[in-house]
Amino acid sequence: MKFWTFSSSVLATLLAVVSLTNASGPSDGDAVADPNSAVVKLTSETYKTFLDENPLVLAEFFAPWCGYCKQLGPEYSKAADSLNETHPKIKLAQVDCTTEEELCMKLGIRGYPTLKIIRDGADTEAADYDGPRDSNGIADYMIKQSLPAVQQPQNVDELNEIIDAQTKPYVIQINPTADGNKTFNSVAAQKRKDYVFISVQDPALVKDLSSKFTNVKLGKKPAYLVVHPKEYTDVRQFSEKELTSAALSAFISTEVMPYFGDINRDTYMGYISSPLPIAYYFYKDPEQREAVSELFNKLGKKYRGKMNFVGLDANLFGKHAETINMDPEIVPLFAIQHIEANKKYGISQTENPEGPSQNAIEKFVTDFFAGKLKPIVKSEDLPTEEEKAESPVVKLVGHNHREVVEDVTKDVFVEYYAPWCGHCKKLAPTWEELASIYGSNKSDAEVIIANIDHTNNDIDIPFEIEGYPTLVLYPANGELDEKTGIRKPIIFSGARELDDLIAFVKESGSLHVDGQALKEAQEGIVEDDAEPEAEVEAEPEAEAEPEAEEEAEPEVEVDAEDLEHDEL
Ligand SMILES: *[C@@H]1O[C@H](CO)[C@@H](O)[C@H](O)[C@H]1NC(C)=O
Ligand SMILES: *[C@@H]1O[C@H](CO)[C@@H](O)[C@H](O)[C@H]1NC(C)=O
Ligand SMILES: *[C@@H]1O[C@H](CO)[C@@H](O)[C@H](O)[C@H]1NC(C)=O
Repeated sequence: MKFWTFSSSVLATLLAVVSLTNASGPSDGDAVADPNSAVVKLTSETYKTFLDENPLVLAEFFAPWCGYCKQLGPEYSKAADSLNETHPKIKLAQVDCTTEEELCMKLGIRGYPTLKIIRDGADTEAADYDGPRDSNGIADYMIKQSLPAVQQPQNVDELNEIIDAQTKPYVIQINPTADGNKTFNSVAAQKRKDYVFISVQDPALVKDLSSKFTNVKLGKKPAYLVVHPKEYTDVRQFSEKELTSAALSAFISTEVMPYFGDINRDTYMGYISSPLPIAYYFYKDPEQREAVSELFNKLGKKYRGKMNFVGLDANLFGKHAETINMDPEIVPLFAIQHIEANKKYGISQTENPEGPSQNAIEKFVTDFFAGKLKPIVKSEDLPTEEEKAESPVVKLVGHNHREVVEDVTKDVFVEYYAPWCGHCKKLAPTWEELASIYGSNKSDAEVIIANIDHTNNDIDIPFEIEGYPTLVLYPANGELDEKTGIRKPIIFSGARELDDLIAFVKESGSLHVDGQALKEAQEGIVEDDAEPEAEVEAEPEAEAEPEAEEEAEPEVEVDAEDLEHDEL
């Protein structure tokens, strides 16, 4: 299951949702930049030429009605004017997405304002602007962007000035070869927004670094280092045989992480987009964090590149515990989230109400890597006999989903829903009727009509859920998915009407059960055939339009839901 793809796309759109929600925010000025300012208004006609002609452009995609765009407008104009005076090569541009709809759609603009830094006309490789939104801040940020991606200090003083000024991890190249230099420059160009890159070649400078960075040996050979500010005895050195952009990028992404960091709004994306499992220590006060910091620094060092260790302030982000199947009320807690495998593990909170011991944490991590831990499966309770009698739809939960879906003698048709989803509620009576036609809840049923609240049950499924409801049929004796061992399902994409669902089961199910015949037999009808037929034909067409709407809506709903969980 490509769960990771799912959550990353959700996170990407999440940012868009945030800015869309912000649309009702403050509204001081005019979103459209002052016509006398140096801001260049772009249209679909002028867009491409302008970008090709200007090496560094900050482009704002906006809508005149958006509150945050109105707030930004005057500041944006001022920044453009100030840059026009001091750095005329840096251009600030604006695209009004209400008049340039097609252009904005093509560029995938999903929220307003969206600010992109575009170099040499390469808009598909544009970087998101994440700097300040006041005029001075914008101008400073763009001036930094115009400097070379790699700094090349000319003497020891310059070198030390750069190094002393760093507050975030930075990257140093030493004794570059021509090829290595190329790789370094290209990685620097990609990551310049996040890190400072320094290149050192002069033997006098290398010697100075060598005396400072006591845990690495620097000679005449090329070396690539990640340095954490002021941590000169723990410099990380690139050690792969071959220096490629991918290897160097991966080295940087891994090594810039502190051994024991803290997770918050700024660092969250870095951790969540890493393929490594995240080990969390939730704490209530700084003393609790301090008490375990030595342990976690040790573990972080030992498992570098295998697992990220983070502290999380439960007063601020405690609710995140629910996302990883832990109880937010019992802190300190320790848990591991393996996003790529969609698995969560935690030290029992009921057995450790005062928090886990350091030994327990260390052992837990060892057991994780030994494959000895059982994931915590979030599940609703299994339905009681009374609940079963209430509806012919078979209710699935985390505990029985696999068992039901694994019964390969039956065609199993499952609705994955969310409790808040309107389209799911609308479908409910139809789903009941469908289940009653096949007698789904009887032990001899050939077709199982089931449903599961996907937000409250952890399950393995061999496909991605992109919106609710998602209806999938596991055909009897169907081919098995390698990773999950579950049958590969057929996803239903027609109109969610009884007759269409019946036709789908008959056609796509391996048992080809004729639900229409069952339905008629149940109704005991021997009426005129002509009428129902006509209805069947007419309906799908009539549905064509609303269908488009339904597709779009659940997606937004998924985002909103994940926003609650993921926005730390
Ligand atoms: C930008 O700077 C140039 C050169 O100083 C000046 O002629 C021009 O009027 C400026 N543009 C705006 C819109 O201020
Ligand atoms: C590395 O690249 C930079 C920037 O293009 C250049 O100034 C420098 O001379 C190069 N060094 C080597 C050794 O190629
Ligand atoms: C199946 O559902 C129907 C309708 O709710 C109910 O009357 C019947 O008792 C259920 N049968 C079983 C075996 O649970």
